[in-house]
Amino acid sequence: MCGIVGIVSDNNVANKLLDGVKRLEYRGYDSVGMVCINSNKLVIKKDAGKIEEVDKKVNFSELKGNIGLAHCRWSTHGSPTKENAHPHFDCKSKISIVHNGIIENFSELKEMLISKGHKFNSLTDTEVIAHLIEDNFKGDIEEATSAALKQIEGSYALGVICADSPEILIAARNESPLIVGIGKNENFIASDVAAILKHTNKVIYLDNNEMAILTKNNVQIKNIDGEIIKKNINEIDWDSELAEKAGYEHFMLKEIHEQPRAITETLNGRIENGNINLANELNFNERELKNISRIIIVACGTSWHAGLAGEFMLEELAKLPVEVEYASEFRYRNPIINGNTLVIAISQSGETADTLAAIREAKKKGAKILSIVNAKGSSIDRESDSVLYTFAGPEIGVASTKAFTTQLVVLYLFTLYMSSIRDSLNKETIKDLMGKLRKLPLEMESLLSKEKEIRKIANIYKDKHNALFLGRGINFPIALEGALKLKEVSYIHAEGYPAAEMKHGPIALIDKNMPVVVLATKDIYTYKKVLGNIQEVKARGGIIIAIASDGDSEIKKLADHVLYIPNTLYILSSILAVVPLQLLAYYAATDRKLDPDKPRNLSKSVTVE
Ligand code: F6R
Repeated sequence: MCGIVGIVSDNNVANKLLDGVKRLEYRGYDSVGMVCINSNKLVIKKDAGKIEEVDKKVNFSELKGNIGLAHCRWSTHGSPTKENAHPHFDCKSKISIVHNGIIENFSELKEMLISKGHKFNSLTDTEVIAHLIEDNFKGDIEEATSAALKQIEGSYALGVICADSPEILIAARNESPLIVGIGKNENFIASDVAAILKHTNKVIYLDNNEMAILTKNNVQIKNIDGEIIKKNINEIDWDSELAEKAGYEHFMLKEIHEQPRAITETLNGRIENGNINLANELNFNERELKNISRIIIVACGTSWHAGLAGEFMLEELAKLPVEVEYASEFRYRNPIINGNTLVIAISQSGETADTLAAIREAKKKGAKILSIVNAKGSSIDRESDSVLYTFAGPEIGVASTKAFTTQLVVLYLFTLYMSSIRDSLNKETIKDLMGKLRKLPLEMESLLSKEKEIRKIANIYKDKHNALFLGRGINFPIALEGALKLKEVSYIHAEGYPAAEMKHGPIALIDKNMPVVVLATKDIYTYKKVLGNIQEVKARGGIIIAIASDGDSEIKKLADHVLYIPNTLYILSSILAVVPLQLLAYYAATDRKLDPDKPRNLSKSVTVE
């Protein structure tokens, strides 16, 4: 869960490396380092801390050289210290590497290398790779790297440079994401396109057990045995501006505000004359889709919450049985799967290791895999039978916001598509439901204009230690998401519960210090019951912050604060209801002087299981 960027160019690379690694900081921010080759010598600067702090101390821009690597770390083996920060190097300081992943046989390799006289400087698993390459080095860095990789077990995205070959940058991948960027008189490697989008939109996705050999004018992809592999060059259609803050203080706030646009782009081309047009994107024909008897959704974190909302949509409208699994648990059960089971994986990054492992397991058992992914070209995208993209654009803030709402929109589209194929809804109803979806971006715009009101409430409660989030039906996953957002960016302990479940335990926590955020939008299913739950909280002195439908005056009499959202279909109101919760979390964090883009201990792309 680290970020890697590497450049070989006809110009100095330090500033581009620094800019690139800053764009990858969402992947890890406990330490950072950079290496360049200057006059056939490696020059390394690194330390523990966020990039900005370390840069102030060491001034990365001072590094000189036309080839280099940079790395931001989220530690797995070895605490975040200067010694454990990447780049690592061999005994003679000739070979330097950056790595994302875990070397599983590092203890055996380290013992073997120590017995041969190698001296280690860090406690990381990564450092063994530098010494292993040194151990295999007979004058050719490519051969030495390939020989070392054959001895390694585990996952890696790797960048390697050698002071004796200052014109060559080597990259390799197994399980951890890595792309190669094709520039003009310069070429790149990176964990993610966001790092290099400013310089090129032409990328090659490395697959497992592939190496890339880059010079400033050439890129060659080989397998681990040195055989050349022909790969496609893909053009990324993300606008590089989207990876900038555009005047917002944080990416999180910018991305919350981008939601109306992201939803519009996710809908574009998918609705035609009131009909849903997904047939050209899905690699399953109508018969296969009709035959699906069961759906299992696998995901982690926020994407798992989207899955829970998807379960509600698919069961309610498409009349399909759905189960939602934590991807990390899925493999450790024995799920009943057959050829008529559709497994839907939901992932913003498309690289979450547990979700990837879950789809591999499901495939082995014969399921069809449909993924809902934001990052095109990611591992989950490439390993799925079919993919529906969320067109959220790059999401940089660690806390997922626009990816979540666009996932909900795709799930809704897919639900309506399945409903039409399976005749669970008639054409007119589907048209009507689509029409309501079309209005969502505008409704969200109007909701975002109430930001000040939400900010005020966040400020009142920012110093509380706990909060509860309650919702029923499709609003239960939204309550979970609201609680997750608050805890991850503001560090206020928060729990999401089905509103009625509160009576079975959490009600004991309620007193005058407990803010309870209740999703109480008007609907025929749960509204009255939720009002009852609000009264239960009030009777015990709790503070109610209600998310309610425009025009609901009854709720005002019960709640301490009401945040109104536009009236829409019950299912769609859940997509609107999450927006004030995202803003509450954002402002609670910033009012507590915390950086919501870089919450402690978190990494955006969790590429280890
Ligand atoms: C929370 C958050 C995480 C991710 C989770 C899955 O704000 O962002 O919980 O949702 O790590 O990530 P993806 O969707 O990339 O698989």
